[in-house]
Amino acid sequence: MIRVAILISGGGSNMVRLVEDMAGDHPGRPCVVVSNTAAAGGLAKAAAMGVPTVVVDHRAYPDRAAFEAAMQAELRRAGAEVVCLAGFMRVLTPDFVALWEGRMINIHPSLLPRHKGLHTHQRALDAGDTEAGASVHLVTATLDDGPVLGQARVPVLPGDTADTLGARVLAAEHRLYPAVLRQFLRELSGV
Ligand code: GRF
Repeated sequence: MIRVAILISGGGSNMVRLVEDMAGDHPGRPCVVVSNTAAAGGLAKAAAMGVPTVVVDHRAYPDRAAFEAAMQAELRRAGAEVVCLAGFMRVLTPDFVALWEGRMINIHPSLLPRHKGLHTHQRALDAGDTEAGASVHLVTATLDDGPVLGQARVPVLPGDTADTLGARVLAAEHRLYPAVLRQFLRELSGV
């Protein structure tokens, strides 16, 4: 079984789907959910599912390196072998990314390489995109730039707002991320 850590900053709806999927013949199991803020609604959801949680508050550290060292200590304590970023809103330094090279993935709410960064739904609307979606990618030192492992496409509909499009993309994320993680771990474990 591969021990999977999930990093969150907010509601954790993607984390919930990943935890729910890691059962039965799935090659992975959640070992810890880490949040950079105690305000993350996902912490209570993880605890309710029996997953250990820890808060490493980025504001409690003098700089990014100290914050990441504290996070890395928790990941090692939990025996994490793979890291899933799921709505984790802190940019990670190349040093931290290097520690997890090839073993850290992220979900981004756009069809990469289009719309890296924030406010992806509004930007898709502003660009007149007829399609939107989500991408799961390996995390590399450059933000939202690593090899894409899987994508889910949704139509942009007339009258869409960032909220209506975002909700449609999020529902697609909830199907995409578990499927990609399952396949990713199968490949890691040589199945
Ligand atoms: C999702 O839109 C995801 O693509 C982005 O942040 C949001 C996370 O939502 N990275 P949740 O915390 O998983 O509900």
